[in-house]
Amino acid sequence: KHQENQTLLEAHGWLTKLYHHLLQHTKEGKDGYEHLKERGLSDEVIDAFQLGFAPNSKEFTMKFLENKGFHPQTMVKGGLLSYREDGHYGDRFRGRVIFPIRNHQGKTVAFSGRSVNGGEPKYLNSPETDLFQKGKLLYNFDLARSEIRKQNEVVLFEGQMDVISAYQGGIKHGIATLGTAISEPQAKLIRRYVERVVVCYDADKAGQDASYKAANLLKKVGCDVRIAQMKEGSDPDEYIRSHGSESFRKHVLDAAVTYMGFMINHLKQGFNLKNEGDRIQYIERVLDEVSKISKPLERDHYLRELAGEYDLSIDVLEQEIINRRKKQG
Ligand code: GTP
Ligand code: MN
Ligand code: MN
Ligand code: MN
Ligand code: MN
Repeated sequence: KHQENQTLLEAHGWLTKLYHHLLQHTKEGKDGYEHLKERGLSDEVIDAFQLGFAPNSKEFTMKFLENKGFHPQTMVKGGLLSYREDGHYGDRFRGRVIFPIRNHQGKTVAFSGRSVNGGEPKYLNSPETDLFQKGKLLYNFDLARSEIRKQNEVVLFEGQMDVISAYQGGIKHGIATLGTAISEPQAKLIRRYVERVVVCYDADKAGQDASYKAANLLKKVGCDVRIAQMKEGSDPDEYIRSHGSESFRKHVLDAAVTYMGFMINHLKQGFNLKNEGDRIQYIERVLDEVSKISKPLERDHYLRELAGEYDLSIDVLEQEIINRRKKQG
């Protein structure tokens, strides 16, 4: 088992180098290089993240690994090759830009391959192995770690391209879960390093719902959570590409709202606030949230906001909070 992990690490190391070389220096990698150039990435950043290209071939990777003496069965386990129906082994990543997934020590333990011609799935990831457990790994944590400490803050993105774009723009304390919801082990790991987290997910409904879940989990493990919301652009990568990283820093990251600020907005979903019954239900939900806040001063702040916005008596709101807190014990 230990030997197998060692072998997989080695194979990933070789392929990271090979794919990266192909991308930057050969015509086999041209499609990938053009894709990344169209997306505005510099060669320095391509180097920093060791981005690569797996050629559109059935046997390119297989022959390479064979020459290095790797057993195809082990390579299949690691998701580097696949076992085809015709009984032959073949390349698993074909015609895809390769994002090496590094573990927290900086070693490649998996790949995420993005199609460049609209092929499905858009991203093909390595399967889970002993070395690669999606729910435990934070993308770019190895590179970001020192910057996280320095800034006393981490930015949590949805995808690797968001991390990379931000990095190119000088925002180097970004990490990502790879398209999956953040797990408790990941949240706890973050908390061990830093208290302040800015959740910066995509602007679409999926991204907003994921922000809600991430914010709750991060709060639960003791983080000071802020949620960034973009008024333009569909995700951080696109925002940075069209408005620049300075604007992103100023109008997205620095404008991130507090947990309650986000909640007050997010809870509006599904309520028609022009309708009296809906409005009351919505206010009840906000009060549920406010009652969970431990700091009296913070509670007071939101109650005043709510009282002002919906023309309510602060005394009544305070009574509602007292009732709720009694029930919570
Ligand atoms: P680009 O289109 O390259 O900018 O990707 P994106 O990061 O904007 O993709 P999206 O917001 O759709 O998804 C966020 C993250 O989810 C990606 O970075 C991937 O890690 C992951 N993801 C997206 N699509 C797929 C998919 O089809 N399969 C798998 N396994 N993961 C995906
Ligand atoms: Mn290079
Ligand atoms: Mn998305
Ligand atoms: Mn996205
Ligand atoms: Mn994107």
